[in-house]
Amino acid sequence: MHSEPIQQAPELPPGTRIQPADCETHGSYEQKVFALLGKELKSGCPECGRIRAEEEAERQMIQSAALARYHMAEKLGAALIPKRFAGKTFDGYIAKTAEQQKALKTCVRYAAEFKQIAAAGRCLLLLGKPGTGKTHLSVAIANEIMATSSATAVYRTIGAVLQAIRATYDHTSDQSESQILSSLVSPSLLILDEIGVSKEKPSDFELTTLFSIINGRYEELRPTVIVSNLDAKALASAIGERCADRLREGGVIVQPFEWESQRGKEGF
Ligand SMILES: Nc1ncnc2c1ncn2[C@@H]1O[C@H](COP(=O)(O)OP(=O)(O)O)[C@@H](O)[C@H]1O
Ligand SMILES: [Mg+2]
Ligand SMILES: [Zn+2]
Repeated sequence: MHSEPIQQAPELPPGTRIQPADCETHGSYEQKVFALLGKELKSGCPECGRIRAEEEAERQMIQSAALARYHMAEKLGAALIPKRFAGKTFDGYIAKTAEQQKALKTCVRYAAEFKQIAAAGRCLLLLGKPGTGKTHLSVAIANEIMATSSATAVYRTIGAVLQAIRATYDHTSDQSESQILSSLVSPSLLILDEIGVSKEKPSDFELTTLFSIINGRYEELRPTVIVSNLDAKALASAIGERCADRLREGGVIVQPFEWESQRGKEGF
């Protein structure tokens, strides 16, 4: 392509000139020619450049959406929410009585104010009768904070935690005890379900493990949601005063569930 310099632009660096050029798609445009290290660099068609930038932005948007989906899947996977409860949400909780409405409101607020809750390390106790929706609402909190923030949440029954740690002793696990404990201490929120479910007195092993988890989170100022069929007094004595003290720190929220079971209302 042969073209003569048509003008000398004063705002351009010395040695730069502008010449007419032609794009196959967009027709004529003003091409800048820079002298750099003894070579000439020619600017391309501005319309082609604009389209390329748009395509690049679009590609990056798709990539970051895919990345966000991947991180969400990873969070949900690590949360280990049981299949039966994975889809439980606040919307799916039917609150007919004033007590149910209060329980729902407590949990909705806990999730909505999770930033402040986390900063203060405020724990939440969901306590009461079986079948009243404690696990449902605890999982709804986890799902909500993971969907609306970068927070991570993990759900475990105490039974599953103890079993996982026991498995490290007889080498049937590829994880160490400290790896298991740190996976319970590091998430923004831990939900520990079925505390005090067995009628027997907890063993020293159970109490030590529970204290390691709750104290580990307490030291990192990370809140824990405890779900139990015991009332507040029975819970404190079952988990021990040392544990109970850690839970109270930062202003624990206690939510009772004292109505009849909503599980299979027809009965069998
Ligand atoms: N108020 C409610 N609205 C909708 N579903 C409920 C309600 N209460 C309980 N359920 C459902 O009943 C079942 C038992 O509830 P769950 O959360 O396991 O009770 P808990 O943990 O208190 O024993 C779950 O499937 C749960 O989704
Ligand atoms: Mg439950
Ligand atoms: Zn072009």
